[in-house]
Amino acid sequence: MRMVDIIRKKREGNPLNDEEINFFVEGYTDGRIPDYQASALLMAICLNGMDDRETASLTLAMAASGDSLDLSAIAGCKVDKHSTGGVGDKTTLVVAPIVSACGVPVAKMSGRGLGHTGGTIDKLRSIPGYRVDLSEQEFIEQVSRIDIGLIGSSKNLAPADKRIYALRDATSTVESIPLIASSIMSKKLCSGCDAILLDVKVGSGAFMKTLPEAQKLAETMVSIGKHAGKKTVALLTDMDAPLGLAVGNSLELKEAIEVLRGGGDEALTSLCLELSAWMLFLAGQGYLEPCRAMAQKALKSGAALQKFRRLIEAQGGDPRVIEAPSLLPGASHRREIKAQKDGYFAQMDAQSCGIAASILGAGRERKEDAIDYGAGIWFQRKIGDLLQKGDVIAVFYTSVPEKFKEAEDVFRNGLKIAKTPPQKRPMILGAAK
Ligand code: URA
Repeated sequence: MRMVDIIRKKREGNPLNDEEINFFVEGYTDGRIPDYQASALLMAICLNGMDDRETASLTLAMAASGDSLDLSAIAGCKVDKHSTGGVGDKTTLVVAPIVSACGVPVAKMSGRGLGHTGGTIDKLRSIPGYRVDLSEQEFIEQVSRIDIGLIGSSKNLAPADKRIYALRDATSTVESIPLIASSIMSKKLCSGCDAILLDVKVGSGAFMKTLPEAQKLAETMVSIGKHAGKKTVALLTDMDAPLGLAVGNSLELKEAIEVLRGGGDEALTSLCLELSAWMLFLAGQGYLEPCRAMAQKALKSGAALQKFRRLIEAQGGDPRVIEAPSLLPGASHRREIKAQKDGYFAQMDAQSCGIAASILGAGRERKEDAIDYGAGIWFQRKIGDLLQKGDVIAVFYTSVPEKFKEAEDVFRNGLKIAKTPPQKRPMILGAAK
């Protein structure tokens, strides 16, 4: 078999068989296939697509390329949740304690930020002392003891995805439904979970900009999950504007604590409750409506907040951040961003906000870059608000004040203030089951 023939076959729009897909995945993972041939194939896939059988075959080959986690020692149904990536998406920090407080174990491995989107692990790292690198044994023991663990990926899970993702990032081949679906699902299939809840983001800050594209991605991933014997559901949720009020690691952690304390942004809270209810449903806790009530109770009673405290303590972090968020890393400089005219706050482009926060220091341009945990944006106003010239829309935080100008330019490019109020968009836009 020759890579050049596989590239030609896909370039001409023909489906690849399992043998050809395995040849590519194995050969690229172990370094026999060079980057230039892998790039050519990825571009051909991007342009000509893959059918459902090919996408499933690619996913299984990537999942089989490394280790997998065995969570069978933890009693109960383990449900994983995965967001396709958004701006200000701190839902895992709220949802995991809620679900765990309802008695369902949450053993979750999360990732670092990617491009303009944030990652749960970077947010947790902003807690002084918090260890994201538990050994597999420590992780399983902790979840068996307190029903919750949130760590970074400790094993060599789906190394094919790591290599292919890095190449996609550098060759403009990220936005492809079969490539995104296989990338996400290959990691989920080796994460040891029994069921999967996918939060597929739709809008300017997401990889999928339109609802039909997001629906197709959701259906593709659900079908892969079910074929692999895992209960899988996807919710399609809005990512036209950032989620909640904060973008940036310690700022998002502070906001998650506010939600767990029963305050915080309403839209963020209701999305967290809905995601929690679906996780409880997938874990077999009953119909969806009683699961919604369980999630509400865990939040309102303070049980979820206490669970978050136990998690922080168990992983070596300073639990006093719950009462004193000022113990989280801060930024030495702040700048208020003001409305330049009167009108309705019509648009706050999520991608521009993500890039602006990243420029301030909340994200990485290169994978080896250090993060400024206190950097980011806190929004003072929401879409739909009536603004007067001079009103503070957002506050920027950074330790490098020279970055303010560039970040403000990017942020302002994504803002729209209009004469008429914008149409209200629901947070949950659809589902695939
Ligand atoms: N997240 C992933 O893990 N992979 C993708 O391709 C896109 C988002």
